[in-house]
This record gives sequence, structure tokens and C-alpha cells, in this order.
Amino acid sequence: MIPLSVAEIAAATGARLDAVPDASALITGPVVIDSRAARPGSLFAALPGTRTNGHAFAAPALAAGAIAVLAARPVGGPALIVPDVQTALGKIARAVIDRAPDLTIVGITGSAGKTTTKDLTAQLIETLGPTVAPPESFNNEIGHPLTVLKITGQTRYLISELAARGLGHITDLCAIAPPRIGAVLCVGHAHAGEFGSLAAIAAAKGELPAALPADGVAILNADDHRVVAMAARTSARVVTFGRTKESDVRAEHVPMDTLGRPGFRLVMRGEAAPVQLQLYGEHHVQNALAAAAIAAELGMPVADIATGLSAAVARSRWRMEVTRLPSGVTVINDAYNANPDSVRAALAALAAMSRGRRGFAVLGHMTELGEDAERLHEEVGAAAAAAGLAGLIVVGEEAAPILIGAKAAPSWQGEPVYVPDVGAAVRAARDRLRDGDVVLVKASHSIGLERVALALTGEQPNGHEVPRS
Ligand SMILES: Nc1ncnc2c1ncn2[C@@H]1O[C@H](COP(=O)(O)OP(=O)(O)O)[C@@H](O)[C@H]1O
Ligand SMILES: [Mg+2]
Repeated sequence: MIPLSVAEIAAATGARLDAVPDASALITGPVVIDSRAARPGSLFAALPGTRTNGHAFAAPALAAGAIAVLAARPVGGPALIVPDVQTALGKIARAVIDRAPDLTIVGITGSAGKTTTKDLTAQLIETLGPTVAPPESFNNEIGHPLTVLKITGQTRYLISELAARGLGHITDLCAIAPPRIGAVLCVGHAHAGEFGSLAAIAAAKGELPAALPADGVAILNADDHRVVAMAARTSARVVTFGRTKESDVRAEHVPMDTLGRPGFRLVMRGEAAPVQLQLYGEHHVQNALAAAAIAAELGMPVADIATGLSAAVARSRWRMEVTRLPSGVTVINDAYNANPDSVRAALAALAAMSRGRRGFAVLGHMTELGEDAERLHEEVGAAAAAAGLAGLIVVGEEAAPILIGAKAAPSWQGEPVYVPDVGAAVRAARDRLRDGDVVLVKASHSIGLERVALALTGEQPNGHEVPRS
């Protein structure tokens, strides 16, 4: 973190100091929201939390060396008292950004692929200079400022993942760390229930291009008409990416290797270079193109981008994570999250990866889809039928429409299996899987189907005992 004194943090947040012996004491970081992560020099932000209140952990945080607590009320030790701790966290992050004039900030948003694109981009940009990128999906009103607070005086690039569950969210995140480069990947069904319509989702994602400065760059997916239309909402220069011929950064000839990983010819800036991704699923081509466009704006030569993309790995877990077992079974753990678009993409990848073999899918409920949920589940069932599966194992009552949709599809030829829970899903899969089979496991995060995948790969002995993250 860029060090700030307690007094400077109070000035940035409007906090009242309580029981602070020395306002000139420097917070050198990390800023933490878990008291167990506090170290000498830390600031402990006491968030209300869903299960437990952070204020209850002020004492252990201070004992571990935290200089002060950012709190909504006195905590019996040095504290900066603010009306809203989360808002104050954003203001501290902004104060840090204001002390980093040479930092280039990149924002990435979209309904699917944010984390993957952030990870690909970070792997390219790290070769250009010191880079901070969030771990996993630190993309909301808490994870975003915590990521920003990781920058030091040496950091040159900040790659941020920006998520929206409603209008105004991305505008708020951009106010904390104003990006000069912003990429929008796609507009799809994630959180459709909260937004109400794809148009509302597009309006929310469009807040990123709208927040860019005139000397910035908006990187927009030319293959998604709702995204490319966002060109009208930005004063920044627009760079498009996609498969369409007109895009500035494009992929031509997209063959799959024998393992089901896409390769392509990267064409941009009048040059071309071959890329072979290490990621599974053709949908990642779009994410790689966005990363390529960002890297080029930051000065990376096209040949280096192609080499970097070809070497980049999936950094965040349970996203198309492929394990080949000694038994000859291939497990695709894509259970980090699911929405209709990402399930369709994963099923298409499964179809490519199981060519000449038997493909199975273990699918669970896709949450937060609102009133169209049943229809969207049935449509995913139809996509499962189109993937030519040997078997479809559907987990849990709310996911049952997937099975109905699959069986209703004229092309359906596989075995439909309904199971009530994770344990039964593990047994059903184990009973069926044989040498050479490929099985995809996918559902929304809260369903916890990664436990099925981990049981199958032997990372955990059964379907019950994996701690949720
Ligand atoms: N362009 C895309 N289209 C459809 N699904 C995608 C795309 N990119 C990634 N996915 C899938 O969406 C899920 C989430 O990917 P992730 O990179 O974590 O995105 P996000 O951070 O936006 O949730 C994974 O199952 C991944 O395979
Ligand atoms: Mg994410």
C-alpha cells in the first residue's frame, strides 16, 4: 500500500478520531477486513458482515499490530469513526489513487469472462511493469477498494474487475479508481433477475465506457451488438475486438487442439501472430482478444502478446479446470459459477472435448435469473441435448427444468438422471463414468457443485466435506 497517516485517512474519509494516541502514525498496510490478516502497520476495517460483525474483532486486530480500526462506533482502542465503513474504504482507496499519478488503471466488465480476462491481462501486463490485479473475483464495493489499496509507489498498472448487480455500481467503482482503459466483454444473463432485462444489464455495463476520459480507450466486443453500441456512451477512443472482419483486434481461423483448447490467428495493427490458448472452450477466444487489445494499448508488441497469451494459464480455480484422472476419465470443473450463457459455452466446450468419446454433464441450479428462470433452465437443457451427451445428471429440484428441456429436445439421446443433492450426484457420476469419458460439472456458486468435481478428482474423498470459499 502507499502509506497514509491516520490524519490523512481521517481527512480523506471525514472520520472522527477516537482514542488515537498519535495521528501522525503511518498506516503502511495491508488494509484488512479479516482481523486474522492484520499485521503491524495494518488498518482493520470493521464491516458489518452477514454472519458476524467486524466490530467484535477490533481487539484481536489491534493486538496483531493494526494501527487503528475503521469503525462505525468506538471499539475500545484507536479508531477512525465514520458513518459507513464500506464507503470510507472506497474513499481511502481513492486517496491512494490520487497519490499514484503514474499509475495506469484498466477496468474490465461484462456478464461473463471478467475474471478470466483479468487473469489473462495480468499475465501479459506483468511483463511490462509492476502490476496489481485482484485475486479471484475481488470485483465489488469491498473487493475493489481492497485491491486498489494493494498498490505501492512502484506499481505501474492496476487491472480491476468491475461487477454490477445494479445501475450505478460500476460508476461508483470507477470513481474509486478511474480507469483510462475499459473493456466490456459481453452482455448476458448473469444477475438478470436483479436487473430485469438485458437492456438494463447493458445500461449498467455501459457505465464503464461512459466513465472513461477523452484520452482513454474503450475496448468493446464487436460481436455483441449491445456492447458495440456502447461506443455512443464514451468520449474515449474506441477499439473493437471480435471474430467479425471489421473488428480492430480479431481472431481468424479458430481451430481446437486435440484437447479442446482453441487456437487462433491474432490479427491486429496490420500484423498477425499465432496463438494457442491453454484454456478450454472457444468462448475464451473473446476474453483473449480483449486482453490482447488492452496489452497493445499499453505498448506491448503483437508478437509478444501472442506468445504471452499462448503461455497464460487459468489462475482462478474452478473455471473450466480440466483434470485427467488415471482412470481415463476427464473432469471439467466449471463449478465456480453459472448462468445460461456460461453453461451454453461450457456445453459447447464439452461437445468439442468429448468428440469420439462419451460426454456427461452434472448440472445444477442457475440462481438470480428472475421470472424467466424456468424457461432459461429448459433452454440450457436443449443445449445439453445439442451437445450430444451420453448422460445428463441434474442436481436439485430447482434445476429440474434442465432435464425437462433436454428430454423435450428432438436430438436428445442420452440418459436423463435426476438426483436430489451433491452426494447422490457423486454416486450417480461414479456409477456411470468409464475410461475415456469426459464429464462437465457446473452450477451457480451457492449450489456448491465443485464438491462433485473435487470428489471425482479425488481432491476430497466424498461429496460432503469440502469447505466453501
Ligand atoms: N465469453 C464468455 N461467454 C460465456 N461464458 C464465459 C465467457 N467467458 C467465460 N465464461 C464462463 O463463465 C464462467 C465465469 O467465468 P469468469 O471468467 O469467472 O467470469 P466472471 O468473472 O465474469 O464471472 C466460467 O464458467 C467461464 O468458463
Ligand atoms: Mg469474476
